[in-house]
Amino acid sequence: VIMQVPFLDLKAQYRTIKDAVDCAVLRILDQSNFILGQEVPEFEQAFAKFLDAKFSVGVASGLDALRLALEACGIGQGDEVIIPANTFIATALAVSSVGAKPVLVDIDPVSYNIDPALIAAAITPRTRAIIPVHLYGQPCEIEAICQLAAQHQLTVIEDACQAHGATYNGRAVGTWGVMGCFSFYPGKNLGAYGDAGAVTTNDPQLAGKLSRLRNYGQEKKYFHQEKGLNTRLDTIQAAVLQVKLPHLASWNAQRAAHAAQYTALLKDIPEVSTPVVLPHRSHVFHLYVVRVPQREALQTFLASQGISTIIHYPIPIHQQQAYRDLDYRWGAFPHTEQAAGEILSLPMYSELQSAQIEYVVSKISEFYTQQRKD
Ligand SMILES: Cc1ncc(COP(=O)(O)O)c(C=O)c1O
Repeated sequence: VIMQVPFLDLKAQYRTIKDAVDCAVLRILDQSNFILGQEVPEFEQAFAKFLDAKFSVGVASGLDALRLALEACGIGQGDEVIIPANTFIATALAVSSVGAKPVLVDIDPVSYNIDPALIAAAITPRTRAIIPVHLYGQPCEIEAICQLAAQHQLTVIEDACQAHGATYNGRAVGTWGVMGCFSFYPGKNLGAYGDAGAVTTNDPQLAGKLSRLRNYGQEKKYFHQEKGLNTRLDTIQAAVLQVKLPHLASWNAQRAAHAAQYTALLKDIPEVSTPVVLPHRSHVFHLYVVRVPQREALQTFLASQGISTIIHYPIPIHQQQAYRDLDYRWGAFPHTEQAAGEILSLPMYSELQSAQIEYVVSKISEFYTQQRKD
């Protein structure tokens, strides 16, 4: 019999918090304080406290969080910003959107995160910042990267959009760099019910600047200190996030337990390489990414068995049409390119059931058993 295993099931989570969310959303409708209502600063403070950061500034998306962070340090035309070659396109788009140039660096093929040993060679006199990404929910080598950045007087802006609550040496990602950027896109570990994001920082000046930049450059209405944008965190989204934040630690723990179950069961299938959690850090498993041969055939077979999988990401940034102007050639980032051809993200969300994980693994096993016979 076919069991349906969606890649992600937002409704399953909603059912567990429906009363509290409905009540919070209806309260906003009733108050009609849609723009920068009190739920926005309340959530900002709660999120900062959760991470042990001094400030968090709510914005409209993860992309805008990155963009405002770059703008807040005055990065723009003529500047270069180092980013990993393997990341979601938004990391690069943020750099381009302020007029700066993204400079890509290959990954460590074990963690899929930026390889710190390759960063120094990418630094030029124009380099202003590094945006390390904690991809799939696993912290990158953030301590070493912050040290290297300090030696070269570069700003570190963390892209923690996939790693809410992950820690390196016990300290939350998003609090290592000068600023940390988060997305609350619905599918994230902490997801809103629409687009939303935040920037965290310990610097009061930067916090002030970020909260002006997201709101037309004004602190006081109609007094504009900077050329800002309109990219505020919506009050309804802040209210939803307020309800969800207290659950984040247990949802992350459930994800980690699902990952452990997948890894234990998949070890009997030699074709499948499971994720490796490197020392000194906690992985919050936004995604559970394996490496497999015959990926497309496996994905098609799994789909026929009711199992949805996704590739994060099938085309690296330097091979995207949008970034032809960067002029990188095929082979420029071999580990990123190889990973792009082999990685597959299996269903992962807090409410995933143990029996569903067993079913997914049994179907992967069935596929490779058949392949070995053919
Ligand atoms: C690594 C990374 N950076 C940036 C973003 C952008 O976030 P958003 O979709 O909220 O703009 C995302 C998520 O979409 C992401 O995964």
